[in-house]
Formats: sequence, structure tokens, C-alpha cells
Amino acid sequence: MKYKSVRGMDDILPEEIGVWRYLEEKARRDLESWGFSEIRTPILEDTAVFTRSIGEGTDIVKKEMYTFKDRKDRSLTMRPEGTAPIVRAYIEHSLNNLPSGSRLYYIGPMFRSERPQKGRTRQFYQIGAEVFGEGSPYADAELIMQLTKMLGEFGLKDFTIKLNTLGCRRDKEKFAEALKKYLKDKESRLCEDCRARLEKNVLRILDCKSETCSQVVRNAPAISDNLCVPCSDYYKKAKESLEAMKIGFNETKNLVRGLDYYTGTVFEIAHPALGAQDAIGAGGRYDNLVKDMGGPSTPAIGYALGVERLILALKSRDISGNIEAKISIFIGTLGDLAKLEGLKLADELRQRIPKAVIRSNTMESSIKSQLRSADRFGSRFVLILGEDEIKENACTLKDMVTKEQVKVGRKDIIDELIRRTDV
Ligand code: HAM
Repeated sequence: MKYKSVRGMDDILPEEIGVWRYLEEKARRDLESWGFSEIRTPILEDTAVFTRSIGEGTDIVKKEMYTFKDRKDRSLTMRPEGTAPIVRAYIEHSLNNLPSGSRLYYIGPMFRSERPQKGRTRQFYQIGAEVFGEGSPYADAELIMQLTKMLGEFGLKDFTIKLNTLGCRRDKEKFAEALKKYLKDKESRLCEDCRARLEKNVLRILDCKSETCSQVVRNAPAISDNLCVPCSDYYKKAKESLEAMKIGFNETKNLVRGLDYYTGTVFEIAHPALGAQDAIGAGGRYDNLVKDMGGPSTPAIGYALGVERLILALKSRDISGNIEAKISIFIGTLGDLAKLEGLKLADELRQRIPKAVIRSNTMESSIKSQLRSADRFGSRFVLILGEDEIKENACTLKDMVTKEQVKVGRKDIIDELIRRTDV
């Protein structure tokens, strides 16, 4: 094969698109009912938008971004995630002054140059939501509740919510120092990546998947046990609110997340169908980011779901019954007059029966072969316009399931089809 898609960047083919549309439409409807408005930001941003927010020492910035110079020698990056661009747009357009700016959602592709494997691609889609201006444990609980309800709406079962807190920026910094001290004499037992993380990204060592690193950190101090009083009270209230709303969660003391902008509540949604890449989605609070990027001091919290992983997790469940199937009608034609008449009839049918898919034959082929095509398209009804039908101003209606065939006058055919498709 001469040309193939770029490794890790997959085509989504017509037969796969149903589940994508199902999830996207459900997500839009659900998020909008919680007061979220859609935002679309460009794929490309100034590289600094990401280095400043995600952090220089993170895996994403160090080794996963698609970064290149444009013709004017400016450094641009294909967005590896959606939060930083939204914060950039929030500040650029003063969205804090608009009621619609306080809750934003997005659906679109992200790009990370990771080693492709099951549930990990280089172009992947996220459904994400961000809440600005609500710095309250009830807002945290509400967002996690919205996410949980939406996953339920998708038909997802058996997922778990891992919950932790990173405390405020001061707590995080103090804890990083304490952890560094704790790990100092254990450095030789850490994996190569974690040895590099020791200086710039020490918290990440806590959730390293390597067996030896997990052993080394097994008895390490936990950040949630080393919080200042306001952060500790905040976390307690967030957990109590979740419990009051009957949203189950697993406190996970080594959950730290791979992006520097987080402080306070962090969470991940895990699903057993995914194996090593078990996070369907993740999020958390980032109360300093808007200010750090030059905007007004604004608390914020958000999450993003990975759509490919969501689909993998849903594969075990049959959601085909939820995907709206359209009735297919095929118009078979013989001769030039019939072809023109077929196009006209198809146009009328599309307007009168919007829930149907209408195709009309434009090729020189026998009725037998056209019926075969209709079968391939899964057509329920075929209208045949042959020479006789054109002369008689009628058409033959064939029901492809019952095989019953009747001739109907041209003026009555649309009403007849409306009657038959009105199930
Ligand atoms: P993240 O944890 O980097 O967070 O990504 C969120 C989700 O995107 C992951 O849980 C996973 O489902 C999916 N994902 C990430 N990388 C890949 C990949 N290479 N292939 C397939 N799926 C992937 C963020 O991106 C944050 N912006 C989330 C957030 C929003 N936090 C606050 N607001």
C-alpha cells in the first residue's frame, strides 16, 4: 500500500461513526443541561501556552508534544490537551464578563507523540468540561456528579472514581521537598524516568506504574496527610458532599496527575476493560492557572474524557439499540426519464420523510443489480421507476422484508411511504 495514515493517528470509518455520534450528541445534551456552553479553540497554539501551564518538567512537555517552527520561525504546538487553550481563550476574550463563560465544554482531537498501544493513540479525542469562578468543595462534588451521571447516560457501568487532593500550591511545594528527602537514599531503586523526575517532577513518582517504583513509594508520606488546615477542611467537605449525593469514590492517596497546573481536588475515572491504560478520563482543580497565564485570579476545575477509551470500555455493552437507525429507501430507475424523475422524487421524499435515508440510482444497470445494491444499503423499501411506470405515471413499491410488491400512483406514493415508515 502506497499511503497509510500516520502511525497512531487512526481513521474513524463510516461503520464506526455511529457510536461517536451517539456519545457526542449525548454529551452535548447532558452538558448543556448543566449550564455548559460549547467552545472550539484552534488545533495550533503558541508553544508557550502549553509549556507555561502543563509544566516544563512533565512528560507531555518534555517528550510528547508535536512542536514545530512555522514559516516566520514561531514555535507552534498541536494541542496535547484542551484546558490550557481554553484558559488562553477565557483570558483573551474576557469570558469572565459573560455568563456563558463560566462553564465551557469542548469536543475535539488532541495530539501526543506517545508510543501507540491499546487505548493510547497519537491523535485522540476528548470530551472536556471546565468550570470557572466557582472555588467551592460543592462545585467539585457537582462536577464529579455531572460526570458520573453522564457516564451512566452513555451506558457505562463498572467504572470507579479515584479521588485525591494535592492541597494548595504551598502544600504541594512543601510536600515535594519532603518527598524528595524521603526518596534521596532510594534513588538507585527508581526507574530511569523517575530518577529524572526526582528534581523537577517528584510527585509523579508516586503514581509510576513500574513495579520497583511502586515498592519504593509504598510507605512514602501521602500528600493528603500533609495538608494545611483550610485545604484539609476543603477536601473533607468535598468528600462529604459526594457521599451526601451518593456518588461512590475511592480515595487514592498516590493519585497525582501528570500536569503541573493542578492544585486541590484531583480525580480519575478508571475502567477494568482498559488494562494498563485504565483512565477513561481525569481532571481536577487548577485555581492558579488563569492568574499565572495573565488573567484575573479565578478558581477553576475541569475534566476530560478520552473518547477512544470510552468506546473501548463501552464495547462490552451493546449500545446499538440506542443509536438511531434511519429507514433506507432506494429508488431504482431504468432509462433517462426515470433517472430524472427518480432525482425529483428523492428530493420530495427527503423533505417529507426526514428520518429516512434516500438514494436514487443514477447508473446504467439492470433492475436486478439495483435490487442487489438496495440490499447492500439495507434498504427497507425500493421504488421502481421503469418505462411502464413512467408511462403510467406510477411506481412499483417493493417491501424488501415482506417481498410484497404493489403499483402505486405517483401522486399517492409519498403518503403511502409516510404511512409505512411511521413506526
Ligand atoms: P489527561 O489525564 O492528560 O488530562 O487526559 C484526559 C484523558 O484523555 C485521559 O484520561 C485519557 O482517557 C485520554 N487520553 C490522554 N492521552 C491519551 C492518548 N495518548 N490516547 C488516548 N487517550 C488519551 C487532561 O488532558 C486535562 N486537560 C483534563 C482536565 C480538564 N483537567 C482539568 N480540566
